[in-house]
Amino acid sequence: MSTPTREATLDDELAQWCRNGTERTFPYPALLAHLRTVGKHFLDPALLERLAACRARTRTVRLTAEDGTGFLSRFLDVVLDKYDDRYDYPSYTALELLRRPPSGDWRKLRHRRDRLVLLLLGDLVDFERKALEGHPEDPAEMLPDARVLDKRRRLAVRVMEPPALRVLAPGTVDPGAVAATPGRTCPDALADAVRSTLTGDERLLLSASIQPVYVLHDEYLFLRVLQSFEATFTFMSGALAFAVRQLHGEEPGEAAPAVAAVADVLKESLPLFSLLATMQPESFRIFRQFTDGASAIQSEGYKTFESLCSTPLRARLDSAAFTSVPRVRAAVLDGRETVQGTWQDVAASGWLKEADATAVRAAATQLESVHQRWKQTHYRLAVRMIGERTGTGSTDGVPYLEAVIANRLFPSLVRETTAA
Ligand code: HEM
Repeated sequence: MSTPTREATLDDELAQWCRNGTERTFPYPALLAHLRTVGKHFLDPALLERLAACRARTRTVRLTAEDGTGFLSRFLDVVLDKYDDRYDYPSYTALELLRRPPSGDWRKLRHRRDRLVLLLLGDLVDFERKALEGHPEDPAEMLPDARVLDKRRRLAVRVMEPPALRVLAPGTVDPGAVAATPGRTCPDALADAVRSTLTGDERLLLSASIQPVYVLHDEYLFLRVLQSFEATFTFMSGALAFAVRQLHGEEPGEAAPAVAAVADVLKESLPLFSLLATMQPESFRIFRQFTDGASAIQSEGYKTFESLCSTPLRARLDSAAFTSVPRVRAAVLDGRETVQGTWQDVAASGWLKEADATAVRAAATQLESVHQRWKQTHYRLAVRMIGERTGTGSTDGVPYLEAVIANRLFPSLVRETTAA
């Protein structure tokens, strides 16, 4: 008698689940293990049909009382994005699984972002440790050499240190050492500290949110970097919305610390680009054949953050930059309030004290300068990774990125400087 293939066993497990499974008994490990050995782009049509039946069941049968979150249904939406013909950047990066509503005080939002970035990058550090120790997990093709893996882990640690200092137990990271030489904390010790705080749901979240389109090792890094930036953009949008509310409200002086925190967190995130630069351009060129249609130009988090600084010019709103994010574009056209607009209004009305106006202006200047660095670094990385190829978001690629460098988040600051 022949032994059943892994695929046949998975199909049996799914068929069994369709008969009497609950949200908790869904065979996530078997499905994800299989997906990572073939890539989401190459899932077998029969398996996709079976998964679509599972998803239909999550929607028609009330599974059990524990099925309160709808996580399984959202997870299956991510697995089936190509099958459904609605594959895009949010589904590629599994954002629906990771996203939390960005409302509340900026300190609470930063805490949430910090924790999520630590989970995502701690997981990456663990993934690369296994490869370094000679037993890589899937996706495992085109493994980079040990020197690159080691560098990758150190750069991940560099991005993890500031949030770790804010949210992990005191003593986990040495603030003096970080101030003197960032990126020297032991990767395994830091990843272990993060792992020791994980809940069962967070373990599932980490595993469910890695759905590479192909089998190359570097795609894991790509996904985790994109997700870490998205967690950061979510915080930035929420904190800027908070700043707008404060400018209108009883304590307009609270706006400047929120804008300053946005600038600081974006600055701390810049080494994510150095981390991503350890991706092998050849690997990227291969797996991006299967990511066509998914581009960060569709990032709602980034465009929300941008349009909360000041209202984008009509030409930009009508370009791919905003037509790729129709919900954000609609919110702008609907009159979304911005930090620049509100601060000018309240300053003109005399509601904002001179000291507070100066502090908001200084924080906005800082944010502008960090964002200019973000765009320049992104542009250089794109030159290295795709050269003259077109973008996966239907732009002409690098020339598009070069052109957007001239845009400003706070055009009024430029006008003030020019007038002075
Ligand atoms: C291999 C690395 C990367 C390459 C080659 C790359 C390339 C590109 C290209 C060509 C575009 C233009 C739109 C398109 O046609 O796709 C774009 C836009 C964009 N990318 Fe990247 N990118 C990379 C990494 C990242 C990362 C890590 C992020 C962080 C989330 C990011 C965020 C963005 C954003 C927000 C836009 C829209 C910019 C705008 O509309 O002004 N990119 N990227």
